[in-house]
Amino acid sequence: MFAREEEPINYTMNLLSIVGARPQFVKLAPFSRAVRGRGWNETIVHTGQHYNPNMSELFFDELGIPAPDFNLGVGSGEPGAQTAAMLEGIEELLLERRPDAVVVFGDTNSTLAGALAGRKLGIPVVHVEAGLRSFNRSMPEETNRIVADHLADILFAPTCKAVAHLDREGLSSRVFHTGDITVDAILENRKRAECNSTVLTDLELESGQFSLLTLHRPYTVDDPQTLNSLLNQLKELDGTILFPVHPRTRKTLETVRISVGDGGSITGNLRVIEPLGYLDFLKLMIHSKRILTDSGGIQKEAYLLRKPCVTLRPETEWVETVESGWNVLLPVESDDLADRIRGFQPSGEQPPIFGRNVSRQMMDAIEAGISPLGLKRDNELLAAER
Ligand code: UD1
Repeated sequence: MFAREEEPINYTMNLLSIVGARPQFVKLAPFSRAVRGRGWNETIVHTGQHYNPNMSELFFDELGIPAPDFNLGVGSGEPGAQTAAMLEGIEELLLERRPDAVVVFGDTNSTLAGALAGRKLGIPVVHVEAGLRSFNRSMPEETNRIVADHLADILFAPTCKAVAHLDREGLSSRVFHTGDITVDAILENRKRAECNSTVLTDLELESGQFSLLTLHRPYTVDDPQTLNSLLNQLKELDGTILFPVHPRTRKTLETVRISVGDGGSITGNLRVIEPLGYLDFLKLMIHSKRILTDSGGIQKEAYLLRKPCVTLRPETEWVETVESGWNVLLPVESDDLADRIRGFQPSGEQPPIFGRNVSRQMMDAIEAGISPLGLKRDNELLAAER
């Protein structure tokens, strides 16, 4: 008789994942694969923050992510209006679908909107890549990640430093130290990139003979003078500098008369091309001499691929990569960038900063923390302790 009141043995979780920008598609791929591996349901919502086909659809195709169930098509805008449009669209979907949890990734405006919409409706929020801090309040991402962490119910921390930040902010009871999901993304795609991408031949590049540059932070790219002076310094380096250009950066480049054009453009040793898909970009990272970037995600990809990384910022969220000697911080204001970059040649051991089997650990934690079975187990444990 009592057995009838037991929870069903196989509870099928219903998750709703929210993504909007390029780095989130990369994180979604292994996460979504693991969700499907458990036989759970996932609704994928694309906010439309990134909408150019080569910054969006291409990633879904290459990474084998199911097409989004919904695309809110919010597009560009001032941060408040952009986030508000996302919030409204996500709330409507959450009311209709009532998932067991909302999953948000990283630190973009889409992350903030998803976390806020879920919290307001009392739907558990899961934050993948929680606890990162740059301690630079002028970065929009810093606001997004702090707010998302405080709203979320389950925090997946990628590193020990991230765990420590969350502890300090009083959030330790919600933290799972899973490692970084990029580890799974690289493992899943490294061989595919090597075998399937023809980017080196297409661009007539020789392995180990070029630097790879990416820039997209407002602080680095919005002011034409800053961007121009940075590029002029980088051009002093030997060898080709390949620069796939983010749309934000493209706008400023045009004001300093560097055009991207269809086939790219070359100024001295700086070769400017359109943004690339993940497999081509991964292959270029693997074969580059060094990586120059202001991105967050690319710093850890460089580390995982054992590439020297020059971070063109005064601070980083991935402090451990700097401590290991494989990443160096060079603010764009420095006037001796080329010399310092030439002198940066890391070697030696790399501590395992980012963990392994990350998406599997995330699924276990979601099952334990959100499914009725997991919650029932928790209640039984609590009762036993009493
Ligand atoms: C966003 C994220 C950042 C992430 C980055 C990865 C925020 C606050 N920032 O920055 O954390 O590291 O994505 O790329 O969420 N644009 C296009 N086509 C596109 C996408 C953007 O032309 O497909 C243009 C828009 O006109 C916009 C500009 O690029 O003005 C910037 O886009 P936005 O979504 O505001 O932020 P990102 O700079 O891409």
